[in-house]
Amino acid sequence: MVKDFFYVTPTALIFGKGVIKHLPEVLNKYGKRVLLTYGGGSIKKIGLYDEIKSLLKDFEIFELGGIEPNPKYDPSVVEGARLCKENNIDVILAVGGGSTLDCSKAIAVCAKYDGEGWDIISGKVKAKDAIPMVDVLTLAATGSEFDCGAVISNTALNDKRGYVDGLIFPKFSILDPTYTFSVSKYQTACGTADAMNHVLETFFSSPSLEVNDGMMVSALKSLMKNVKVALDKPDDYDARAELMYVCSLACNGILSNGNGECGWPMHSIEHALSAFYDITHGAGLAIITPRWMKEILSEKTLNRFVVLGKELFGIEVNNVEDANNVIDAFYKFFEGIGIPMHLKELNINEDRIKEMADHILEFDCTVGPQMYVELNKEALIRILKECL
Ligand code: NZQ
Ligand code: ZN
Repeated sequence: MVKDFFYVTPTALIFGKGVIKHLPEVLNKYGKRVLLTYGGGSIKKIGLYDEIKSLLKDFEIFELGGIEPNPKYDPSVVEGARLCKENNIDVILAVGGGSTLDCSKAIAVCAKYDGEGWDIISGKVKAKDAIPMVDVLTLAATGSEFDCGAVISNTALNDKRGYVDGLIFPKFSILDPTYTFSVSKYQTACGTADAMNHVLETFFSSPSLEVNDGMMVSALKSLMKNVKVALDKPDDYDARAELMYVCSLACNGILSNGNGECGWPMHSIEHALSAFYDITHGAGLAIITPRWMKEILSEKTLNRFVVLGKELFGIEVNNVEDANNVIDAFYKFFEGIGIPMHLKELNINEDRIKEMADHILEFDCTVGPQMYVELNKEALIRILKECL
C-alpha cells in the first residue's frame, strides 16, 4: 500500500554558472550582519572567498573558518553559536561542502538556545527557532543544500548524530557547478558514492512505487555516468552540473515519497565508522554497500536486485545467485572510480567492531518496524567484518 506522506521543501535553489551575483539580494531579505562559515581553505584557493567578500561590501561580515570534514560539535558548532550570539547575527552564509553546511545548520539552532547545544543535536531538547541559513555549495555529495538534516560529531562522546528538523532547511542554496571543478578525484568519487547510497537506501523498501523506481534508477544512471566524465575531465560543466543537481535530489525525499520504510541502515553503520575513525563518509558507504546487500539478499529482497541488475548493469536476475552478480557489479563500479573497498585500507581493523555494533543499536537502532530488513548485533558484526 502506498504510504501516507507529508512532503515539503521550502529551500529555493538558484542553479547555474554565475548565479552568485544573486547573493546580495538574497541575504538582504534577512539582514546585514552575516556569519560567513567555511572549511579548511578550498574556497580561498578557488577565488570564491574573495568573490563573496567583494559582492558583500555593504554587509557586516563575521567569520568562522576551519570547519572540519565530519564537523565537530566542539569546537566548530560551539564557536559558531557563540559568534552568532555575541554579534547579533541576522543570517548565516555557509560556503563549502556538506560539512560546512551541516555545521552551519547546527549553529543556526544552537545560537537560538541558551542551554548546551548538544541537547538539541542529540534530540533531548526540541529547538524552537533558528537563524536563517543560506549556502553556496562547492561539493556535490550530501544533499545538505536541499534537506533539513545536519550530521554532527561529538568527539568527547564518540558520537556522530544525524539531526533532522524542518527549522534547518536552507532558505536559499546557490548552486554553481563551476565551483566543483576543483574537487579532487577522491572527493568526487566519494561524493557520488554518497549520493548513490542515498538513492539505494530508499530503493530498498517495500512497497516502492513504480514512479519512484523510475526516478531512482535514472538518478543512479546519471550519477554513474557523469562521475566517470567528471573524473576524466574535472571541468566538464554538464557532467558537474548533472552531478550537482542529482546529489541535491538524492537526499531530499522527493524520490521516495509514498515508499515503505527503509531505515537507512548503511548510514547507521557508516556514521558509527566515521564517529570512531573519522573517515570520509562516501568511502565508508561504498565499502558497506555490497556487504550490506549480501547480508539482506533473500527471496524477499530479490525483486529489488531484478530492477537494479536490468537497469544499471544489463544483468538478468532470476534467482539469488544472479543477484550476487549485481552486488559484484556495484563493488567493481566503486572500485573503478577509485574508492578503497576495504576498511583495512583506511587503517581500520576488527578491534572495535563489537563496540560499534552496540553503538549503532543504541543510537541508530537497526531493529524495529522502521527497517526494510532488521539488523541485529550479529548481523552488524558480520557486515563490518566483511568490510575489513
Ligand atoms: O574544508 P575545505 O578546505 O573546504 O575542503 C573540503 C574537504 O576537505 C573539500 N572541498 C569542498 N569543496 C571543494 C573542496 N576541495 C576542492 N574544491 C572544492 N570546490 O572536500 C573535503 C570534504 O568536504 P566535506 O564538506 O566534508 O564533504 P561532503 O560534502 O561529502 O560532506 C560530508 C559530511 O556530510 C555528512 C557526512 O556524514 C559528513 O559529515 N552528511 C550530511 C548529510 C545531510 N546533511 O543531509 C547526509 C549525508 O548522508 C551525510 O551523512
Ligand atoms: Zn550520506
